[in-house]
Amino acid sequence: MKIFIDTAKLEEIEEAYSLGILDGVTTNPSLIKKIVDELKEKGEKVDMESYITDILKAAKGTPVSLEVIGTSYEDMVKEGKKLFERFNPVADNVVIKIPVNPSTEDGSENVFDGIKAVKELSDAGIPVNCTLIFTPEQALMAAKAGAKFVSPFAGRVDDFIRANNKIEFEKTDYFPVEGIEKDGKVLDDNGVVSGIDLVSQCVEVLGNYGFETEVIAASIRNPRQAREAALAGAGIATLPFDVIKGLLAHSKTAEGMKKFVGDVIEEYNVLFK
Ligand code: E4P
Repeated sequence: MKIFIDTAKLEEIEEAYSLGILDGVTTNPSLIKKIVDELKEKGEKVDMESYITDILKAAKGTPVSLEVIGTSYEDMVKEGKKLFERFNPVADNVVIKIPVNPSTEDGSENVFDGIKAVKELSDAGIPVNCTLIFTPEQALMAAKAGAKFVSPFAGRVDDFIRANNKIEFEKTDYFPVEGIEKDGKVLDDNGVVSGIDLVSQCVEVLGNYGFETEVIAASIRNPRQAREAALAGAGIATLPFDVIKGLLAHSKTAEGMKKFVGDVIEEYNVLFK
């Protein structure tokens, strides 16, 4: 499974790339806001153009998703082309993120605008990451429109199922892949029992028809969910920096290290001098 980092924080991107295990970056307007707010708090001024340029260079030729802000087909296509033309020459690695459906309420008129924008940008040779995927059929539509990537939001599905059923939770809490049973019934969102179940259904549906579209397991909140994305066959998981760190953690690894370090005898130590 490829690992992308889900952040707009340059320091995190640089550190993760220095490990040699990173395959891409995903950003969104909320992640950009988070870092810009942080920098402003520190009294730093942010020049967005050069900040994004630095991210693209730090990503060393691997894909970086940049999201549009419009909610109409026309705006998203215009913005996608503008972002691509402005930034792709930096390192030839820009992917445009388009919401699968930009309606902000059910029944809005722009329900097809995301898919139309995915199609137009993809036909123009611009790689698209179709985002805010919450059903396998949305993934299917995006793949049919030519998206290079689809991003099912695993963690937000788990949040949604828990919130709908008045289950208290912390954002990073583990949610079982097979779902949660309450009053003798497995809770679900329209046949999806967990975020990883959504990822798995997207992988299965696209796999059934041989689409080249890659599934990015997104909105991943903890290392176990990243493991389960890999078990579900996601080609990619996009992970926050702390989740990447968590992939290496186990208390027995730390305990074992403590013992090994404590057991180093002088006769062995001398070999390293
Ligand atoms: C990635 O492409 C998504 O924007 C991101 O994973 C969303 O994560 P969140 O649900 O933790 O905000």
